[in-house]
Amino acid sequence: MNLNNRIAVCPGSYDPVTNGHLDVIGRASRVFDEVVVGVVNLPHRKGKTLFTTPERIGFIERATEHFGNVRVEAFSNLLVDFARSVGAKSIVKGLRAISDFEYELEMHQLNRRQAPDVESVYLMASPQYSFLSSSGVKELATFGGNIDDLVPDFVATRLKEELSR
Ligand code: PNS
Repeated sequence: MNLNNRIAVCPGSYDPVTNGHLDVIGRASRVFDEVVVGVVNLPHRKGKTLFTTPERIGFIERATEHFGNVRVEAFSNLLVDFARSVGAKSIVKGLRAISDFEYELEMHQLNRRQAPDVESVYLMASPQYSFLSSSGVKELATFGGNIDDLVPDFVATRLKEELSR
């Protein structure tokens, strides 16, 4: 590990990754030397995921390979411990509407209390993604809505397969 590298963690459940997540990851990859996308193995608050951890990781790897400084890892421990384990001093998250703020403020306080040395950084969602969420995409896909501009093509294909069962 090069100690001069500025490494950021972009954490989330990514069930599945959306174009909004990819926008934040891409923007973080221009600000930091290296971005580690941390995929929560078993989301504590959200219950069972639609996609397995290897599949969620595979989607992100495929969608971010062109950035060149992004890698993807699963984690099952505290986010701040995961950040420290990969040498990251920053956690980067996207903020969409006001509704995100309250949840993220709570997460920020929890994380800061555990690890004051790990700074959380928030990127405002790009306008075209400000109401995009994995759960919204899954709901649209369940009822045959158009999700083509919301997730990468290969994710849309797998979502349609999975939800048509
Ligand atoms: O809303 P998401 O995408 O499921 O967020 C997941 C995560 C890890 C970013 C969020 O829950 C968080 O910031 N948690 C901090 C507390 C923690 O470390 N929990 C353990 C996660 S394995």
